[in-house]
Amino acid sequence: MTEQIMDRLRTSTAQLHVDAEGHRFQNLLGTGRVPQDQYALYLQQLYLMHQKLAQLLSADNIAGLHFADVLKAHHFDLSAITGDLGRFSIDPGKAVALSATAKFLSYLEQLAKTNPVSLLGPLYVLEGSSNGAKFMAVKLKEGLQLNGPGADYFDRYGDKQKEYWLGFKSDMNAHKFDEHEEENIIAAAKATFQVFFDIGSEIDAL
Ligand code: HEM
Repeated sequence: MTEQIMDRLRTSTAQLHVDAEGHRFQNLLGTGRVPQDQYALYLQQLYLMHQKLAQLLSADNIAGLHFADVLKAHHFDLSAITGDLGRFSIDPGKAVALSATAKFLSYLEQLAKTNPVSLLGPLYVLEGSSNGAKFMAVKLKEGLQLNGPGADYFDRYGDKQKEYWLGFKSDMNAHKFDEHEEENIIAAAKATFQVFFDIGSEIDAL
């Protein structure tokens, strides 16, 4: 039997996950020791990536494309991250992109034009990250002394996280992608892990 797309995605990005997890900045997030200004900057990068993906994969833009059935409304719900930005008095419309993020947003636009199915790679990374982020939310709330919004994004699905993740996995696995499409999805997932690494390094260097 050929390997399923979600197994291919996990194995081919496993080392990048280890690298991202081991990044100093992710460690600061994961232990809740991140300085507030760096955290607010990071939230803006997350918002910009999600917002761009939501726009590029909106119903209008993907109408008629074969993978539309994999996409669900909750994938594009920006309410948690918008609320978190509000806690730091940041207007989402004025979110500032670091250079790694700006480059990545252009890359996503390019994919949307040339090969929209590849955008499932970034979606995989952002959805998959909800697995570990759930624990991060607790540490961030403690470390940054947040009552109410501020780190809701990291546990944005709450009790539904497992259900949504398993649903995404099974929808992706049930879908037929050809070899070329699978390779493009994997390449875009790798680029997404890389941007998380680069954003961490850029914030560390500030
Ligand atoms: C402190 C940093 C991190 C920790 C502790 C962490 C931890 C975890 C854990 C525990 C899982 C679930 C593994 C499983 O149930 O099999 C997971 C999955 C995942 N994480 Fe992370 N993670 C971190 C950072 C990141 C970052 C920065 C990204 C990328 C944005 C990311 C993307 C993913 C993806 C895509 C999966 C799903 C893997 C799969 O099963 O296909 N993680 N992570």
